[in-house]
Amino acid sequence: MKQENQILSQEVRFLELPTFTDPRGNLTFIEGEQHVPFPIRRVYYLYEVPGEAKRGGHAHRDLEQVVFALSGSFRMKIDNGHSKTEYWLNSPTKGLYINRMIWREMDNFSQGAVCMVLASQYYTESDYFREYTDFIDAVERGSK
Ligand code: TYD
Repeated sequence: MKQENQILSQEVRFLELPTFTDPRGNLTFIEGEQHVPFPIRRVYYLYEVPGEAKRGGHAHRDLEQVVFALSGSFRMKIDNGHSKTEYWLNSPTKGLYINRMIWREMDNFSQGAVCMVLASQYYTESDYFREYTDFIDAVERGSK
């Protein structure tokens, strides 16, 4: 289990972004391939998410992402097919990097939470595993 957790920590980890703070407030910036480990091809965001909603519930064959709580907080449940963990996202300066072939689910969105996602690829439905059993089968076969 310890080894699995070490593998998971390489696949999913927090990235800290450069931030300038002065009496006028905070400024945080992100440059593709500098602060996130891929060229940014797509940005999307979730907002006005009901507190009881569950989002995600899928994995990606090739897509890498970095997820931020620009405002508020939410929980990210992570599963690499062997072990599971969870993270609370609650900082606009700390993004959660999620590599390919990771099942993720998001819930417990606070009121006013804004989730921003930086993605390495354009939206492609064929990149998704939408069924958990298909994801597990692919992990066990070592395929995608
Ligand atoms: P969905 O995958 O259900 O969102 P979540 O990951 O939060 O559960 O996506 C909702 C809809 O939005 C679905 O029809 C696919 C579409 N979509 C796009 O067209 N482009 C995108 O970049 C994303 C992320 C989703």
